Amino acid sequence: MLVLYVLWAVGLLFILFGFIAIFAGPRGRGVPYVPTSRRRIETMLRLAGDVRGKRVLDLGSGDGRLVITFASAGAVAHGYELNPVLVWWARTRVLLRGLRGRAHIHWGNYWNVNTSRFDIITVFGLRPMMGDLEKKLKRETHEGTRILSNTFEFPNWKSVADENDIHVYVQGSQKQ
Ligand SMILES: C[S@@+](CC[C@H](N)C(=O)[O-])C[C@H]1O[C@@H](n2cnc3c(N)ncnc32)[C@H](O)[C@@H]1O
Repeated sequence: MLVLYVLWAVGLLFILFGFIAIFAGPRGRGVPYVPTSRRRIETMLRLAGDVRGKRVLDLGSGDGRLVITFASAGAVAHGYELNPVLVWWARTRVLLRGLRGRAHIHWGNYWNVNTSRFDIITVFGLRPMMGDLEKKLKRETHEGTRILSNTFEFPNWKSVADENDIHVYVQGSQKQ
């Protein structure tokens, strides 16, 4: 019986925070949980280039699959996620894979994260938020930072590569 109550509470939290995430972006435009497919993750890893020793940030890390992939490939990866159930699940997966120290899952709103210390940034957002995210990343990131966006393109920034619906941007690659 207790197990059922715990499962019910976890499910309720998942739905509640999933709902909150939908309104968490600027002007209330947030993003629901949709995991990236294995095929696209492979594309992202390839398009990211050599990730060994690089600092990677996943904006909205979901179940941690991108953080885990990049950390397994030699990066130090961080993910920010609003939904505490997904944070708990992602942290469990990190522990099970022995990636503590290389893969870090934070519970928080990524719009409040200073992105300047990261070399590679990944995001799977929604079209209405891409303009605000473009402004934030152009303002904060350093020369050479690679940004990989799943599905949605930035409205003004010109991508340097597009493959399998993954769009790659490099800070400083053009006059912006
Ligand atoms: C489309 S899913 C992508 C999950 C994961 N990155 C992947 O590629 O499989 C977007 C995730 O962002 C989270 N999210 C939405 N708005 C957020 C915010 N403002 N701060 C942190 N996480 C957020 C959602 O809860 C959801 O898990």
